[in-house]
Order: sequence, then C-alpha cells, then structure tokens
Amino acid sequence: MKIKHRTNLETQPILSLNRKIIRFTVVENNQKHHIETYVGEYPSLMFLLRDRLYLDGFGECQGVGRCATCIVQAKAIKGNSMIKERNEPSTLSKMGYTDADIRLSCQLFITTDLEESEIEVLEI
Ligand code: FES
Repeated sequence: MKIKHRTNLETQPILSLNRKIIRFTVVENNQKHHIETYVGEYPSLMFLLRDRLYLDGFGECQGVGRCATCIVQAKAIKGNSMIKERNEPSTLSKMGYTDADIRLSCQLFITTDLEESEIEVLEI
C-alpha cells in the first residue's frame, strides 16, 4: 500500500477553515487601518502593530511590560482582556496613566475580545 503525504499547499486551506477571523480598527497618526487576524498569528497586539504598521521604537522591551513604548487606547475590548495583569498596572501607573482603556499592547493577546474594538496608538 502506498501512503500519500500531504504537502503544505494541501493542508493550508484546511487550517484556514478552522481559524476565526478577528476584525478590529487601529488608529495611528489619524489614519484608520482595518485589521484582520486570528488567534495565534501574533504573540500579542504589540507584535501585530509593529508588523502591520511598521512603527519605529515601538515595543522596545519585546513584550516584558516595562518600557511603555507600546501604549494604546483600547476602546470596546471585552472579556478577560479588560483585566490588567503582570507588569502592566505598575508600568502604566509610573507613566501617570490611570484611565482603564489605556493599555500596554504587549499585554493584550490576540483573542476574540478584540473583535470590533478600536485601538489607537498613542504618541509617548
Ligand atoms: S513592549 Fe515594552 S511595555 Fe510593551
């Protein structure tokens, strides 16, 4: 019996069918960008923003949550993503940010909590 091995080209459409597309808007320098992504495409929102918008000096600590170069205003996010954990509360507090919707994008994971939200990249 001859076993047929699948190539990457054959498996790619099958994987794509299982991925729920997550859509949201990013505002950067007064320009709106309509983003489509899926769970697992990026480790965090910071990596997505750096990759898609080519932002200079953004995310300098690589997602540790200490540099505060990845600050965004996240409007209408849902679920567990609304909770600030790990280094995020102390880093934002040191920078003087107290508003609930000001976030470190490196601490926001790509999940359906971002669906239909608006993320504005803040100048620091
Ligand atoms: S990448 Fe440094 S705090 Fe987010």
